[in-house]
Amino acid sequence: MYFAEENERLRKIVQRIAEANPGKVTSRPVDALLYSVVRASGAERCLELGAYEGTTTLYLAQGVADNDGGRVTAVEIDESNARGARQHLEEAGLEEYADVVVGDSRDVVSGLDEEFDLIFVDTTPSQYLEDYDNARGVLAEDGVLAFNKANDEPELVQRAREEMEALVFEEYGSFLLAQ
Ligand SMILES: C[S@@+](CC[C@H](N)C(=O)[O-])C[C@H]1O[C@@H](n2cnc3c(N)ncnc32)[C@H](O)[C@@H]1O
Repeated sequence: MYFAEENERLRKIVQRIAEANPGKVTSRPVDALLYSVVRASGAERCLELGAYEGTTTLYLAQGVADNDGGRVTAVEIDESNARGARQHLEEAGLEEYADVVVGDSRDVVSGLDEEFDLIFVDTTPSQYLEDYDNARGVLAEDGVLAFNKANDEPELVQRAREEMEALVFEEYGSFLLAQ
């Protein structure tokens, strides 16, 4: 096992995406943490809501690949962002580990008929409560549910504290991880 930062190939792709789109991609510590959670928990099924051009998708896909198998479903509402995410997965040689689905997370998740070990939500805070309710419906027992910039939706944080079994991580003023 290695730390996410040691993967030069992904680091270069993600750096390029971040430089071309300042302020739009998930921060590197969050990507690194998610990679580590996938590895440490042995997650096989991951779901990402709000993939943009796939920086986090790459780390989730690398995590399941390094776990010797698994799959990421990444949902993105914007067709051209989804195309970008697919291209970046191909560039990284990770396309077999991820499906990028074009659609609104609020429609797509309620139509999924499988469960996920790890769900990462990074749509937009004004939708987080809906995403939270839908995501809990497809979260496996002992699964991990993570939100980017959770503190931007205080009601989400309050509900997750009350309703989830444990709040295992809260850092960077913005990131909530519960299971
Ligand atoms: C902050 S960006 C996500 C960044 C991404 N996690 C990354 O790895 O860089 C938010 C993304 O969520 C998408 N989005 C917003 N609302 C959505 C929805 N309801 N369903 C799916 N995607 C959505 C936006 O199009 C945008 O690409």
